[in-house]
Amino acid sequence: MDQALNIRSYAQVDDQLANSGTRVMAVSSGKGGVGKTNSVVNLAIGFTRMGKKVLLLDADLGLGNLDVLLGLAPRYNISHLLSGERSINEVLVEGPEGIMILPASSGVHELTDLGTEERIALASHLETLGDAFDIMMIDTGAGISSNVLFFNMSAQEIVVVVTPEPTSITDAYALMKVMFQRHGERRFRLLVNSVRTRKEGIEVFRKISLAAERFLGVSVEFLGSVLQDDNVNRSVIRQKAVMELYPQTKASQCYQEIAREICELPVQSGLKGGMQFFWRQFLNRTI
Ligand SMILES: Nc1ncnc2c1ncn2[C@@H]1O[C@H](COP(=O)(O)OP(=O)(O)O)[C@@H](O)[C@H]1O
Ligand SMILES: [Mg+2]
Repeated sequence: MDQALNIRSYAQVDDQLANSGTRVMAVSSGKGGVGKTNSVVNLAIGFTRMGKKVLLLDADLGLGNLDVLLGLAPRYNISHLLSGERSINEVLVEGPEGIMILPASSGVHELTDLGTEERIALASHLETLGDAFDIMMIDTGAGISSNVLFFNMSAQEIVVVVTPEPTSITDAYALMKVMFQRHGERRFRLLVNSVRTRKEGIEVFRKISLAAERFLGVSVEFLGSVLQDDNVNRSVIRQKAVMELYPQTKASQCYQEIAREICELPVQSGLKGGMQFFWRQFLNRTI
């Protein structure tokens, strides 16, 4: 990509997003299979039920499954956007309750490690959406790959999903440690998923936050827990969100409470504009 496009992207981003109020939240985990994608989808429904417009970015780029979880069969995905074959409006698909989704592609190897050019291309496509959304959630995928770290560091708020399993706890800690040591990230929010009791959720939070504060000097805020609930598994099999299929089940109540909690919490960044902050980071960072 030539220098001129580079400079134009920067200028456009600054101009058009100067007053953006979109809240940008990355949802991540150390270990896979802990409930990130379910959390993203169900929190998104929780937000829409509070009147928010929500955009989901499936940033698990090589293994995307937001669309699968929702039973959607998108014609296009992020790879068509990055190759220039399709526009952002052609690639976005509508999910339940008006949520908009930018699907990832499955098994597209190159996307597992986005280069600077692709980051700029993605940023400039997304910036055309401007203020259309109140909240953008990014399902980053698990682990500490370059993409995962990059999307986390580009967002204003980082939500780490963890379960009570010891391996999930140690991997969540490792993720926070890497983000702190390599990128100076000091603030994380924790969602404890698949707990048997709320007390168990609080214990997991205590364990992680004590270690993070003591050994890293990093602060961890508790967003809440989601109870283990067979209706989540049933919904996954039926390719619908549990909030849609079983709005009254215990997991759905937990997701709605956490969505409310997030809306009540101040945006973590000191910067005023979410999208603006996101794109600045997006364009400037090379991880
Ligand atoms: N609260 C829950 N109760 C019961 N099962 C859950 C819960 N959350 C997630 N699961 C199960 O865990 C599996 C993995 O969830 P998923 O959201 O795909 O994880 P990730 O995105 O972290 O890989 C789901 O298929 C579902 O069966
Ligand atoms: Mg997932």
